[in-house]
Amino acid sequence: MTFNDLTKAISRSDFANDFLWGVSTSAYQIEGAADIGGRVPSIWDTFSATPGKVRDGSTGAVACDHYHRWEEDLDLAQAMGLNSYRFSIAWTRIFNGVDEQPNPEGLAFYSRLVDGMLARGLQPWCTLYHWDLPQYLQDQGGWENRATIDAYLRYVDVTTTHLGGRVKHWITHNEPWCTAMHGNWDGMHAPGNKSLPLALQVCHNVLVSHGLAVPVIRANVADAKVGIALSLHPIKPASDSAADQEAVVRHDALRNRWFLDALYGRGYPELALRLVGEDAPMVLPGDMEAIGVPCDFLGVNYYFPEVVTNAPDQYPLRTAIVHPQDRQRTDFGWEVSPQGLVDLMARVAREYPTGDLYVTENGSSYDDHVGADGAVDDTARRDYLIRHLVAVRDAIAAGAHIKGYFAWSLLDNFEWSEGYLRRFGLTYVDYPTQRRTVKQSGHWYSALVRGQNQQ
Ligand code: FCB
Repeated sequence: MTFNDLTKAISRSDFANDFLWGVSTSAYQIEGAADIGGRVPSIWDTFSATPGKVRDGSTGAVACDHYHRWEEDLDLAQAMGLNSYRFSIAWTRIFNGVDEQPNPEGLAFYSRLVDGMLARGLQPWCTLYHWDLPQYLQDQGGWENRATIDAYLRYVDVTTTHLGGRVKHWITHNEPWCTAMHGNWDGMHAPGNKSLPLALQVCHNVLVSHGLAVPVIRANVADAKVGIALSLHPIKPASDSAADQEAVVRHDALRNRWFLDALYGRGYPELALRLVGEDAPMVLPGDMEAIGVPCDFLGVNYYFPEVVTNAPDQYPLRTAIVHPQDRQRTDFGWEVSPQGLVDLMARVAREYPTGDLYVTENGSSYDDHVGADGAVDDTARRDYLIRHLVAVRDAIAAGAHIKGYFAWSLLDNFEWSEGYLRRFGLTYVDYPTQRRTVKQSGHWYSALVRGQNQQ
């Protein structure tokens, strides 16, 4: 399809008037200012400083220097015509592990940031945990230690009390799968452990912390809307064989249903429990009830489908992820599948039919370059964005109550174990100068949101 055909396929009037048009960011990936304002190290400071953990050897110590440039960055979001903005709080700016009392400088930073959003007509969406656990808590066992749940609840209590008059939308955790599994099973993320039972215990404790945080937030914030953001994948079979179809069911049980079933009050899937056997987490009385607390919305982070095949020697799921050659991919290698988003959202709406849905992240990484004319012509990202927004519209038509879309991300940023090698922004960041340039994709998003993309 040509660009003309693509952009004609969608307009703002296809969506409800109160639909949220946003961008998503996270603290460690953009803030920098690692030693400033009383901030203490997180597990990502430690991990990224460890040789071999991040592909380009970089850290988030400076990142986009958003801590100092936040006004300029919020101006970009406002100039795009957006009406919402998702950010995360760095726990390490609020508690330092020494003082009982929260750090006033940290609270003041987020207070200014939130005021800045409100002044620009951006509804603040706050993520409380986007992977940057204080290192002092990791030193005491991290999420495996249930004392971390208590520390989290205190942090949630303080931040929601402080900001709750102005921030109504709260996300307890970003992608607990990644916190648990990348952090503790495959070791790709901080803290870099490689143990399935440990990862499953971490996963469970994180979900418990979510469940216990929900009533705390509701007690502190009048008219609160509380939810969680999950990384969900449609799972597709590598072939039509019965073995591959069954592999899909096994894979889905841990990858998606482990979270959805538990959060919707159905407990962990029997199938997944059977597969992990003795590696299942220790569950205390009351935990599953806590995890199943009804929320106001579910955030879905969607990037790509997973294609799996039957692999009898792979513990515990007996599945392997494959990467078929014949798919369109981003420069990061992630499959481009807008239909996957339609399928996923329709499935969630059908099987877990409560609350509102938001796409809390969706985006693509390409190797962008600033042209001689100073422009960044990221046509592939622009087309990805258009096709996924068409998918959101189609999913709504298919019955999914999607109330908003947050593009990942406002800015190029520190992409975890890929460092600065992957650019996901609607805005290009030239790291040596910190100059920001809105890319073609950002201009198109802005035109759509303003109802001008067809002109
Ligand atoms: C998601 C993360 C986000 C970003 C994108 C590309 O899994 O939540 O921080 O790294 O992937």
